[in-house]
Amino acid sequence: MKKSLLALLALLAGANVSSQNHRLSEQLGNLKSVSAVKAGFNLTVSNAFISVIAYNSTTIRIRATRQKPNIDESFAIDNLTPGGELKIQTNNANQLVLATDSLHVTIQKNPIRISISNKQGKELCSDDAGLGISWYGDQVSCYKKLHADEKFIGLGEKTGGLNRRGQYYQHWNSDVPAYALDADPIYSTVPFFVGIHNDVCYGIFFDNSNRSYFNFGGGADENVFHFGANDGEMNYYFFGGSTVAQIIKDYTQLTGRTPMPALWSLGFQQSRWGYDSPEQILNIAKTFREKKLPADVMVCDINYMDHYKIFTWSDKFPDVKGFMNNLKGIGFDVVTIVDPGIKIEKGYKSYEEGVKNNYFAKYPNGDLYVGSVWPGRCHFPDFTRTEVRNWWGNSFKTSHVDNGIRGFWNDMNEPAAWGREFPNLIEFGEGKDKQTLYSVKNAYGSLMARATYEGTKRLMNGQRPFVLTRAAYAGVQKYSAQWTGDNASTDDHMLLGVRLLNSMALSGIPYVGMDIGGFMGNPSAELFTRWMSISAYSPLFRNHTAIDFHYREPWLFNDQTTDRIRKILEQRYQMMPHLYSAFYQAHTTGMPVNRMLPIDYTFEEDVYKREFENEFMFGDGMLVCPVASTQNMISVYLPGETKWYRLSQDNILYEGGKSYNVDAPLTDLPVFVKEGSVIPMQSVVQNTKEKCDGTLYLHVWKGETGSEYVYYEDDGETYQYEQNSFYKRKISYNPETNSVSLSAVEGTYKSKFSKLQIVLHGFGKQHSFRVQDLINGQMKIVLNLNI
Ligand code: GLC
Repeated sequence: MKKSLLALLALLAGANVSSQNHRLSEQLGNLKSVSAVKAGFNLTVSNAFISVIAYNSTTIRIRATRQKPNIDESFAIDNLTPGGELKIQTNNANQLVLATDSLHVTIQKNPIRISISNKQGKELCSDDAGLGISWYGDQVSCYKKLHADEKFIGLGEKTGGLNRRGQYYQHWNSDVPAYALDADPIYSTVPFFVGIHNDVCYGIFFDNSNRSYFNFGGGADENVFHFGANDGEMNYYFFGGSTVAQIIKDYTQLTGRTPMPALWSLGFQQSRWGYDSPEQILNIAKTFREKKLPADVMVCDINYMDHYKIFTWSDKFPDVKGFMNNLKGIGFDVVTIVDPGIKIEKGYKSYEEGVKNNYFAKYPNGDLYVGSVWPGRCHFPDFTRTEVRNWWGNSFKTSHVDNGIRGFWNDMNEPAAWGREFPNLIEFGEGKDKQTLYSVKNAYGSLMARATYEGTKRLMNGQRPFVLTRAAYAGVQKYSAQWTGDNASTDDHMLLGVRLLNSMALSGIPYVGMDIGGFMGNPSAELFTRWMSISAYSPLFRNHTAIDFHYREPWLFNDQTTDRIRKILEQRYQMMPHLYSAFYQAHTTGMPVNRMLPIDYTFEEDVYKREFENEFMFGDGMLVCPVASTQNMISVYLPGETKWYRLSQDNILYEGGKSYNVDAPLTDLPVFVKEGSVIPMQSVVQNTKEKCDGTLYLHVWKGETGSEYVYYEDDGETYQYEQNSFYKRKISYNPETNSVSLSAVEGTYKSKFSKLQIVLHGFGKQHSFRVQDLINGQMKIVLNLNI
């Protein structure tokens, strides 16, 4: 009855009922007009407006909208100004062509199809000849040709295998506790991937924060892959750099790079949901010191607050300053959690301020949105607005920053509420900037992290804050580290975690980590030990568990495990100069710290095999092969044409390009070093603030090929490095002259190391070895070792 009435009304209104119920897709159509603009073309086609613009010689932006575009905005990119120089910009009868120094873009006119090749003329990526860009309702998609040997890597925090080929993924930031090994989506959205085929590679960043999808040839014809979003624009950046490193560099030039992290945050972090008193936290910190287990951070989860009210402390912490001083006194920093939900409670400062100043997200009728999280019924800050981000940032002053807290953990920012889905129509922004949850959700976590980072940085008098977030959008690396949320205490989850971290790192976010031991569950001593040994090679090194599970401080298993963990912690602290130098690369080029093997060994088939897909490089020269705790042997693939040493043994050389079965006892994770590498290390310290023995140990592994290592150091605490206050030198190993040379120092910072010691590996007995130090432009031989 109701249906037929609707049909009648629709008929009267002249609408076509059957076509509304059975919608067909809409194609771009043919070219109507074209205008050459700076670094590209603007096109009007039958059903859309398109622009194709060079951002630099290896980055092309392609944007298609059904309405004439008037706003141009991004949650990931701060500067949308194109800067590409074109060599060719022509308009022929059938085609438009633009060429940069590196790329050749051809736009076929009727129908519109875009194809990009490199300067050798090799095809990198082309629209599917039959499909190209199209709409289905508001969903916009782009269909691309899929090559027979094509592989896909990246897409940020996505479960599953390293190679994304044949899979379908969605971006819709979600709180998924104890997620399944193939759960999708989980917490974050980084719509950036790299495609690899026929000895070429390219990257695509689809900058659309609405619910989006990527289908890498799954469930569709093997000739096509496609991606799209349920709303918004087809707006993507194409990266045609000839190496994965160059693609990452261009992607992070666009979306930003990590600032240098606070050194203390790279130490071991001890966390647990449930620590709820200063005495308990201090006791645990003291036990680390008594047992000589190096550590830097105690983490306060939600129990430190008064009824989970953000920017408050529970009355169990009557003297926060005293508590902080006690911890600082034994070399600990504190990281505290904050969630976005502000409890609805009369008299609670943050609630009152938020309501009074109109800072919370609303329904379209103006009512404030209410969702329930830890504190009960809550309102949620509208982080899209600058004044709200400023308010949030300033709110850390009295409760946190004035008490000496320098670490801020942002959680539940998908945003999450019990019952999971917020209504899509909730509104953010004001006036012409208004938008709904649908386009804000995937960016909400990044916006919160931005508000936290910018605010605490402002308050901290030049000190670097440490921010950690669960939800994120592309570009979050400018503000925050990210962890992989509520994982589970199983071997499979540990190994999945490695892949998540490697994929997030490839996708521009270098400061990543997972809950060691698994958030949900009780790991065996073996699993915990193995997890610690793998995570010693993870930028964020944090033990965390949920309230319902056993306490898991490292000494609670048995003495043997405590001893093993001590060794792992000591090794982490010894590697700090290497880790920090690797972060310098991330800061300046986007090259991550943990590097999946396709970054350096893109065209070696074996690196994509399931059995080897978890392996990764940790900075330059070190290759880590994760192993389940239940295995004490493993098959590893050692890539490339160079040889490899095992870190724990100098006497065996393994040839690259082959796989080997190697021992993998719990006490010796298989880690390899590339021949000819130089890796700087330091003495064991109990925390990053403790003085080391003053010697920088330069480990050198003999090889037929040389290497160049950029050693970097600064004060680890402030932003003085932006004013040239750093200590940077190139350290080169030359196999022909059997020498290591140190370039002149760049920067004005005085190194904390006053001595240098060379530690030789694999040189045998019969060599003499030289160390050359370039001082005042003169190469000086400071050491001649006869061994
Ligand atoms: C969320 C976080 C977890 C935290 C818990 C309590 O589940 O992911 O790490 O411990 O909330 O705050």
